[in-house]
Amino acid sequence: MNRPPRPHADVDAILFDEAAIARRVEEIAAAVNAAQDGRELTVVGVLTGACAFTADLIRRLDMPMLLDFIAVSSYGQSTTTSGVVRLNKDLDIPLEGRDVLVVEDIVDTGLTLQYLRENLLARRPRSLRIAVLLDKRSRRQVEVPVDYIGFEIPDVFVVGYGIDYAGRYRNLPYVATLKPEVYS
Ligand code: IMP
Repeated sequence: MNRPPRPHADVDAILFDEAAIARRVEEIAAAVNAAQDGRELTVVGVLTGACAFTADLIRRLDMPMLLDFIAVSSYGQSTTTSGVVRLNKDLDIPLEGRDVLVVEDIVDTGLTLQYLRENLLARRPRSLRIAVLLDKRSRRQVEVPVDYIGFEIPDVFVVGYGIDYAGRYRNLPYVATLKPEVYS
């Protein structure tokens, strides 16, 4: 039987290796810990891309913490600026009166985070902050306030550390670009 190649074989360049990501996650966690000062925090991980970032970040947080996940998908983000985002899985816990930290993998045009921010703010949290692992600043179409940024990256498509291409490569432990032939 023909097996597909192992994910590492499709990697072109590693942008951030495991050690670099771990260091940055530690720094972001320290900033969140300092800002929160022991008060309870509700972490909202955005599925599925932020799974690894969320899992690593929460293990560095030192306050009482609740964890929930939300799933959204955006339509035609490369062909339209309509910003239509669909909620695929809602939270199980109410946010009213809570300090909320949204954890997302990538902010690109900003449309997904803008939708999420407005949707979550409507639930009247006490505060709402946003952490993203990767920021494609040059691609932004709408400004969204992001409180914690892992790394700024150029306009390249990346995978790994939870981030996918066509559902795959999430299990790579680093953030990388793929060989051009993978897309053809
Ligand atoms: P935005 O709404 O344009 O900001 O898009 C953000 C979402 O697009 C992210 O949460 C990712 O799911 C996806 N995305 C953007 N860039 C990449 C990439 O380079 N690789 C994989 N997914 C990406």
